[in-house]
Amino acid sequence: MASLLHLDSAANRSGESVSRELTSLFARAWTEVNGPAGYRYRDLAADPVPPLDTAYCTLGRRVERVGLLPRERVPELVTGAAEARAWAVTRPLIDELLAAGTVVIGAPMYNLSVPALLKAWIDRITFPGAFADPAGGGSRLRDTKVVVVAARGGAYGPGSGRQDQDFQTPYLRAYFGRHGVPEANLSFVTAELTVAGVMPHLARFRQDAAVSLAAARAEVARQASARGRAAASTVRAPGAVTS
Ligand SMILES: Cc1cc2nc3c(=O)[nH]c(=O)nc-3n(C[C@H](O)[C@H](O)[C@H](O)COP(=O)(O)O)c2cc1C
Repeated sequence: MASLLHLDSAANRSGESVSRELTSLFARAWTEVNGPAGYRYRDLAADPVPPLDTAYCTLGRRVERVGLLPRERVPELVTGAAEARAWAVTRPLIDELLAAGTVVIGAPMYNLSVPALLKAWIDRITFPGAFADPAGGGSRLRDTKVVVVAARGGAYGPGSGRQDQDFQTPYLRAYFGRHGVPEANLSFVTAELTVAGVMPHLARFRQDAAVSLAAARAEVARQASARGRAAASTVRAPGAVTS
């Protein structure tokens, strides 16, 4: 079955969030092609992933000393209730990511980077060896498609003079690339100037903001149906491995 993991990390759940609007557009278009059965939603603001603690780190360090250890065997190294709790929070999040053929991530820019809510999920899932394929030593994310839907109040694209201040999309590109998602499987859709409509001193950018949002909506819809159709044809091909 084709599978989609839909993550939102905007703290704003009031209905005003641009990244939430766009990820939900993606999810709707994807499920139109593939149906709802393989769809999974995680709202990192409604259900925040707890920040790392000593138990997570000590368990992770013990796993690192052993080397490449499949996650099924991590419980053998757990010592004490705090580590058991840390692993009980961590393992389902890793499983959820690894089960997804496609991941769409709503990622607003907060203070030039990603929200702490998203960073907490990233820190948690990046447990030592979590993505290592015990069979071949490669990454278990090598076939995962990742679509990042970014929103930001200002403009950081080419010509903005602020490209060097964008620690949001380059960070996510570097993170997923480092953990084995091929560049061809990584997409970014960005809506810029999202606060131009509300901040009086940015009123002159309202037209640019509207153009950026319209382009982002169109690109999200295009990506969702292209990725959705690709996922559907992969799983329908005779003998194909489910992605
Ligand atoms: C805590 C916080 C920090 C922000 N920092 C920045 C920033 O550094 N640069 C920027 O362009 N916009 C910044 N913004 C504006 C958001 O990026 C913008 O409102 C975006 O649309 C938020 O995503 P959302 O619409 O999905 O909620 C910030 C907003 C918040 C709430």
